[in-house]
Amino acid sequence: MIHTPKTAIEVSLDAPAAAAADWLVVGVWAGDAPLVGPAQVVDAATNGLISKLRTAGDVTGKHLELTPVLTPSGSAAKRLLVVGLGKQDGATRSTLHDAAAAAARHVTGKKVGTLAFAVPSPEFTLAAGVGLAQGCQGPGVRKTTPTRHAPDRLVIVGGEATALPRVHAEAEGLWLARELVNAPPCDLYPETFAVAAAESGRKHGFDVEVWDEARIAAERMGSLLGVAQGSVRPARLALLRYTGNPGGPTLALVGKGVTFDSGGLSLKPTDGMVDMKGDMAGAAAVLGGVQAIAAQKLKVNVLGVLALVENMPSGAAVKLGDVLTARNGKTIEVLNTDAEGRLILADALCYATEQTEYVVNFATLTGACLVALGTETSGLMTNNDAWGDQVAAAIRAAGERSWKLPMDASYDGLIKSKVADMRNTGGGRWGGAIAGGKFLEQFVGTAKWVHMDIAGPAWADNDSPALDSGGTGCMVRSIVELARGFGERPV
Ligand code: BES
Ligand code: MN
Ligand code: ZN
Repeated sequence: MIHTPKTAIEVSLDAPAAAAADWLVVGVWAGDAPLVGPAQVVDAATNGLISKLRTAGDVTGKHLELTPVLTPSGSAAKRLLVVGLGKQDGATRSTLHDAAAAAARHVTGKKVGTLAFAVPSPEFTLAAGVGLAQGCQGPGVRKTTPTRHAPDRLVIVGGEATALPRVHAEAEGLWLARELVNAPPCDLYPETFAVAAAESGRKHGFDVEVWDEARIAAERMGSLLGVAQGSVRPARLALLRYTGNPGGPTLALVGKGVTFDSGGLSLKPTDGMVDMKGDMAGAAAVLGGVQAIAAQKLKVNVLGVLALVENMPSGAAVKLGDVLTARNGKTIEVLNTDAEGRLILADALCYATEQTEYVVNFATLTGACLVALGTETSGLMTNNDAWGDQVAAAIRAAGERSWKLPMDASYDGLIKSKVADMRNTGGGRWGGAIAGGKFLEQFVGTAKWVHMDIAGPAWADNDSPALDSGGTGCMVRSIVELARGFGERPV
């Protein structure tokens, strides 16, 4: 049901012009400076082809500019694609990632055997490899005639062989996360998501335990069950355990996995509901991230907690005014059944913070976060600035983006209830993303905790140069980066 590309990813030490491929992608930095690296090598082998394109103004090196050359002579590749890399000064992982992704998108609308990318220098192997992988996948998961064709081979020419295991792991984690988000909700619901998690665990070497409704009830997760009770699809909680550092500290990653968010009785209008198959992107990021961590056998312990439910209206659905009791005994007045993400995370966070001191949750939690930060940047909320800074640094290093929102005690009033310990909505229009954060904070005890509201970056309404529309796979790379930096004394 979940099909990810079977593409092989390799590095090659061939000279760029000697790389046999259906397409060879070569990057050119912006500006008039003499060509360097693979661009210079290919230029020399092809009788000054790239220089001529520069003189003609076809190639400027502007970031993500694409110039295909269909019949190059002097290159072993059948076709050449010159991609603009932008300014060399200050180029980061995301600069090369996006360039590789844009190049791959340009050619994978048709069947390609081998797609090669000549990296400007070996340290960009990871960026180029994962970027190429990103450009090979699209949202057409149920089209009888595919619109994206993953190549048989991706070859990183001049790449570092030691980076390959990480490239593989992150590419496959990204593919899995995006495929899960793009999967239709008739196929992907809590039970089948849990099966996908178990399959991933079997294949990549981590343990997966799945709790059914009876177990979830026995574990006193009344808040999660309150959301699930309106659906004919029963809830699941999937626990992913990877132990790469026995005896060391554990990093807990908690994901919101609402496989479809109708809003419940607080029903969303069609426009707001239409993309809500993607409301499990947090859980998808956690599964893709844990898979990527296990696949490269990182020396770290990780606990993934996937809270999996469908939010539906029905005669059995949770009602406005109902009061739910979470695992830590706190009572919640439900005043809007569309604020369901925080209800399922409440119990998942209780469990995670019982297991470890270091917790990060990922959730498409609020439209308010989209209003505040737009589609490119996730909201970061924390109860511990040092841990928050560490998570933010990992996100930045991975080439993704976050921005910290305030969590002062003065916002506590946003979740005050007359009836129960708290209510599940902010009530008014203001500070909606922070209200979500303040609510979740009630369930983390003394753990160091970060809440990532990924409602913006998790889903792309439209194609962009480096990314097809649909699920984006956001936070998979950041989770790997965070795990790599999670040592013996995390903060
Ligand atoms: N899944 C939505 C948030 C969302 C909205 C994600 C748009 C991606 C795009 C969440 O469950 C939700 O409905 N939140 C409500 C909260 C409100 C009722 C307090 C919202 O944002 O309107
Ligand atoms: Mn909702
Ligand atoms: Zn939701």
